[in-house]
Amino acid sequence: MNTQEKYKQYVNTAFVKAVEPIVVDRAQGATYTDEEGNTFLDCFAGISVANAGHGNARVIEAAKAQMDKLVHCCSYVYHVAPVADLAEKLAQITPGRLKKSFFGNGGAEAIEGAIRLARRYTGKFEAVALTQSFHGRSYATLSLTGNCGRKIGGGPYMPGVAFTPAPYCYRCPFKLHNPETCDMACAHYFEEVIRCHTANNVAFFIAEPVMGEGGIIAPPDNYFKIIKEICERHGILFIADEVQAGFGRTGKMFAIDHYGVEPDILVLAKGIADGFPLSCFIARDEVADAFQVGDHLSTFGGNPVSCAASLANIAFMEEENLPAKALEKGAWLRRALSEIPSGQVAIGEVRGKGLMVGIELVEDKKSKTPAAAQAGNIRAQLREKGILIGVGGGFGNVLRIQPPLTIGEEDLRRVVEAIKAVIAGN
Ligand SMILES: Cc1ncc(COP(=O)(O)O)c(C=O)c1O
Repeated sequence: MNTQEKYKQYVNTAFVKAVEPIVVDRAQGATYTDEEGNTFLDCFAGISVANAGHGNARVIEAAKAQMDKLVHCCSYVYHVAPVADLAEKLAQITPGRLKKSFFGNGGAEAIEGAIRLARRYTGKFEAVALTQSFHGRSYATLSLTGNCGRKIGGGPYMPGVAFTPAPYCYRCPFKLHNPETCDMACAHYFEEVIRCHTANNVAFFIAEPVMGEGGIIAPPDNYFKIIKEICERHGILFIADEVQAGFGRTGKMFAIDHYGVEPDILVLAKGIADGFPLSCFIARDEVADAFQVGDHLSTFGGNPVSCAASLANIAFMEEENLPAKALEKGAWLRRALSEIPSGQVAIGEVRGKGLMVGIELVEDKKSKTPAAAQAGNIRAQLREKGILIGVGGGFGNVLRIQPPLTIGEEDLRRVVEAIKAVIAGN
């Protein structure tokens, strides 16, 4: 039995049923190689994980050195240096007073912990999240997810969650569309949601500073300032979910850095350790210390090998100036993509920050009818050309380009040319 057949027989994975998978043998930089030696340009980075490039020598070396010393002991009553060092480093590079980290393994687990902490700190239980959002596939995180496509087949979900409209200017729910003139109606509407859709017992507001699965939606510049001000007025904590947008992806180390706002809790995962499983939520002292003895623990959370890898990952990002490079490459990429003429499908909008780039496909620019089937086809055609991208958005019509931040300019040019050819029908 080969790998494909064994997967069909023995691995329970939902996506394999939808897309014929590539059997990856190895990866380096922004290139995957399959078992037959075919190579693919990776423009999705394992869903925004391998920000410092696949197989980053520095990260691998640090992990190997740690593996020789200690692989696991659990944070229960043991302390290890890589955990302490990483926590200190995160306190230095995250915004404002954020200081104490709790380490887990994946994004959903860290969001769950952040929910628990916010409830403990405020003594309240309700939540407000954004439409179009995605926060993971556990019970609580799906409950906070504002996209029925991700929630089908689950439920009933957690009570006490209200949704406020996403700052999705291209499809503005208020039909205002222009952030210069809209007076940030969507941000102010948050207060209306608190008033009309909650029992005024809101513990936290949660948002992705740049939305990923929702179709690469970057809120206007002053959006989070208004949100934070409303949070403060109502004693609500602001949880920033940077599981996908963090670690240089958007052109700054953290996406919330674009908005000049200090979240109460910041949640990190994916790009934190360039592929090693690790996540964390970080809060300022006063909030973090709301946990009582015995409140929270994760058996594998804060694995020493992952923490050592993360430290090397962050050092590499800083020394290579990776966030600034992502900002530059992303600006070039968005400009080049927005010059592509319509063909078998129209480009409604090219958007994003840094190397978190979305191309919203529509049947025509006037009706803005989402072109979901075409988005799937384009992804398949790009794969034929050896380029791997993601697809997302509430309507499944947004091409997502989120490559390793180390991707070369020549490779980015190749991506633009390939997308141009496919949209032209070649
Ligand atoms: C913004 C965001 N939050 C949370 C998650 C969940 O992370 P994980 O799949 O590691 O549980 C994801 C995953 O894509 C995400 O994009």
